[in-house]
Amino acid sequence: MKLTIKSTRRNYDIYIKDYLLDNIENYLDVNRNYVIISDDNVSKLYANKLSRKLTNNYLIEFPEGEVSKSLFQYERIAKILLENGIKKDSVIIALGGGVTGDLAGFLASTILRGIEYIQIPTTLLSQIDSSIGGKVGINTDIAKNCIGSIYPPSLVLIDPKVLDTLSARQFNNGIAEMIKYGMIKSRHLFDDLKTLDIKDNIGYYIYQSLLIKKELVEKDEFDEKDRHLLNFGHTFGHAYEAFYKYSKYLHGEAVGLGMLLMVDKEIKNDLKEVLSKYSLPTEDQASKVDLLEFVKLDKKAQANGISVVMVDKIGEAYIIKKQIEEL
Ligand SMILES: NC(=O)c1ccc[n+]([C@@H]2O[C@H](COP(=O)([O-])OP(=O)(O)OC[C@H]3O[C@@H](n4cnc5c(N)ncnc54)[C@H](O)[C@@H]3O)[C@@H](O)[C@H]2O)c1
Repeated sequence: MKLTIKSTRRNYDIYIKDYLLDNIENYLDVNRNYVIISDDNVSKLYANKLSRKLTNNYLIEFPEGEVSKSLFQYERIAKILLENGIKKDSVIIALGGGVTGDLAGFLASTILRGIEYIQIPTTLLSQIDSSIGGKVGINTDIAKNCIGSIYPPSLVLIDPKVLDTLSARQFNNGIAEMIKYGMIKSRHLFDDLKTLDIKDNIGYYIYQSLLIKKELVEKDEFDEKDRHLLNFGHTFGHAYEAFYKYSKYLHGEAVGLGMLLMVDKEIKNDLKEVLSKYSLPTEDQASKVDLLEFVKLDKKAQANGISVVMVDKIGEAYIIKKQIEEL
């Protein structure tokens, strides 16, 4: 399966195919200069599949986990790239989940004022979400994703077979974002997630999810309006994550809980059923009052209220401004 994403800087293709990583030479020019950036989990599993086929390449590893989306890793890796004589026509390959894609993409967007990079996402979340749309960046102690840019990759290569080594919890973390796509744009996708065993046909569902993200990022590349629909569940989702100091929930799990707070009773039961099917949490003890303290800190919160995404009918989301008291 193939999609093309249009963007002002460059259009780029996304290929989705089982065992694509074993046939990488069919998708890129093996004679260019590549730097593979990968976390220490993923590099052990998959870096070799790339390096043995690419004529000129070297690997830069970093410790797995959100903590590596940092100024420290950014500087450390930037120095390695410069010491190794990175050139304007060198290509960075981001091999890994969303942490790798965001960090390596941000390096690509800034090193030598911007070089090409390829996303090879290896978690379900990164395959359906973070690898497309061009948002790249790092965290600081003050906030997540607060230093970054919108810088599209030149190519996205998705091999659904790499999901076989992903833990069930990480897989379901990606499913939460897929449920979100269904909630905001596709009743059909939502119903499939609810009734079918989608794991058997995951490539098709990755494609369906990407079609939804494609529509929104092409309409609103710089995240000014339509793209905000992708934030469904995220206002309270971020609040849950922050309330528990990023230790209790994975992002998708928190977004699932956040979605439940933005729908009325009838849809809530439907949504709970599908979240439970994928072992995603549907109840939490944190009170709305506690969570609202974090909602107020949200970068979208302004003196006259906060824009939130609501769903009254599955597959049809809309954006509305609410006062904190109303929430
Ligand atoms: N740029 C965007 O548009 C965007 C969108 C959504 C999320 N994000 C970012 O994505 C990040 C989360 O991404 P994530 O959930 O992929 O986390 P991640 O990159 O930390 O990966 C999760 C874990 O899975 C491991 N892993 C990855 N692929 C594997 C595989 N195939 N087999 C076995 N283990 C594997 C990793 O080593 C890691 O331990 C967050 O930093 C978030 O801010 C960015």
